[in-house]
Amino acid sequence: MAVSTGKNFDEPIPQMIERLKSEHVIFESKLVQVEDNIKNNAVKQAAEIIQSISDRITRHAVEEEARLMRVIMRKAKTESSESIKIMQEHNWVIDFLKSNLLFFERARSHSSSLSSDSKDFKDAKKNINEFVINLRKHFEEEEQIVFPLTLRAEATN
Ligand SMILES: [Fe+2]
Repeated sequence: MAVSTGKNFDEPIPQMIERLKSEHVIFESKLVQVEDNIKNNAVKQAAEIIQSISDRITRHAVEEEARLMRVIMRKAKTESSESIKIMQEHNWVIDFLKSNLLFFERARSHSSSLSSDSKDFKDAKKNINEFVINLRKHFEEEEQIVFPLTLRAEATN
């Protein structure tokens, strides 16, 4: 019953989708914390929270591509185009997480360059805000399009 590790390829699809949804809930609670920090100009803390869920988000995305898309491509290929587009959004998610890591490392080494009127600071704030909005939208699209299609496809022979 090692269903919570995300490494169990025997986990039934309906159960996996419930787990992915509950991971979305956890990520959403972190996104709210990120937004609160950004509002208070605590960019470094916001970046730190993103960093703390970065590996988990990556693993989550890899699983969606590996297992859900496999079901869709096998059993609902003619309806797959929107889901493929949504899965491609993982590219910017991963890119952002990498650039966030760079920002985070830089912020740790030169905290002086992070005064609230510096360009780096303003850019980071804007980028993090956009990331939160886009990631939230991405989760919604998955729950409205990818997850239901996977469940429907999985239920057919
Ligand atoms: Fe995703």
